Amino acid sequence: MAALVLPVDAAQPEPAVIARAARIIAAGGLVAVPTETVYGLAANATDPRAVQRIFDAKGRPSLNPLIVHLADANDLASVARNIPSLARTLAERFWPGPLTLVMQKQPVIADGVSAGLDTVGVRVPAHAVTRALIRAVGLPLAAPSANRFTRISPTTAAHVVAQLGDLIDLILDAGPAPVGIESTVLDLTTSPLRLLRPGGVSRDAIEAVTGPLGDAPSLETDDAHPSPGLAARHYAPATTLRLFRRASRAAVIAEAARMFAEGRRVAVVVPDDIAMTLPFVRRMPANAAFYARDLYGMLHELEDESCDLAFVEEPPNEVEWDAIRDRLRRAATAPE
Ligand code: TXA
Ligand code: MG
Repeated sequence: MAALVLPVDAAQPEPAVIARAARIIAAGGLVAVPTETVYGLAANATDPRAVQRIFDAKGRPSLNPLIVHLADANDLASVARNIPSLARTLAERFWPGPLTLVMQKQPVIADGVSAGLDTVGVRVPAHAVTRALIRAVGLPLAAPSANRFTRISPTTAAHVVAQLGDLIDLILDAGPAPVGIESTVLDLTTSPLRLLRPGGVSRDAIEAVTGPLGDAPSLETDDAHPSPGLAARHYAPATTLRLFRRASRAAVIAEAARMFAEGRRVAVVVPDDIAMTLPFVRRMPANAAFYARDLYGMLHELEDESCDLAFVEEPPNEVEWDAIRDRLRRAATAPE
């Protein structure tokens, strides 16, 4: 059965809509919810069967832990224990917002959420709809990105409908996600602290609070699955992506022009600080925050247009582009 899609005001969510979504969650159902990063697939984090439904709908291996969402940083102790004082400092600085903190978990969190680990990833999303829903349910919500496993993350309700429409109960549509890229995941249980996934909060901003961070394990190590976002081809679109450096732009455009003339469905993605109006050229914002906002939408569009090859210009080698570079590289990693 197709999921119901209900429009909801992003700033002042209608109480009746929130109440309806809360009843579904309380009954063990799944609701796709807007967050500032991407749309999430939410369920009661304390209900093992509801959590299992998330894995089933996504087709996601149960070794990959889910993020737990709270309405308020003051509720942290209900889901995490042995909370380091640094967690409070980071929460004060970055919550609500796109930072997920990995800490030791409270037993109330269903084991499936943490994939059997003793830890839990927690964040307070900066989105009025999801926070209102968490408050209405009165429980923490587990919510991974609302896409099928290894597919492109959703930044609009339409993206969710396309991938999960037949598998979930309700989709709340609050318009496009403003950040557009997933939260930064920071592991507070290791020394040094480790950045497990670059995301909406930059490494620089975190290091200004924490000092130097350790790096995530390499993409190739698969043991214990500390972060599914680390699987090399986690974000692969059906369109084959090839990254190129700015210096080869002219050569790439010439090659794409030849392919286009032969009738190939090809695209070249460049920043919009250059003027260019070729039919196969797509322009993306030259500003990192705006590029992030549009990134997944662009990948979804390439797929929808049955584009079979897209050359994408590598973003500048600067920290504010870390998360974008990371997602593009994963999307460009060919399936094994
Ligand atoms: O922005 C976001 O984080 C979105 C929205 C919906 O909040 N959620 C999201 O969830 O991206 P998901 O499940 O697609 O990605 C969760 C990430 C993974 O990289 C996962 O490994 C990491 O968080 N994670 C969660 N719990 C963890 C834990 N206990 N230990 C290590 N990594 C964890
Ligand atoms: Mg995801």
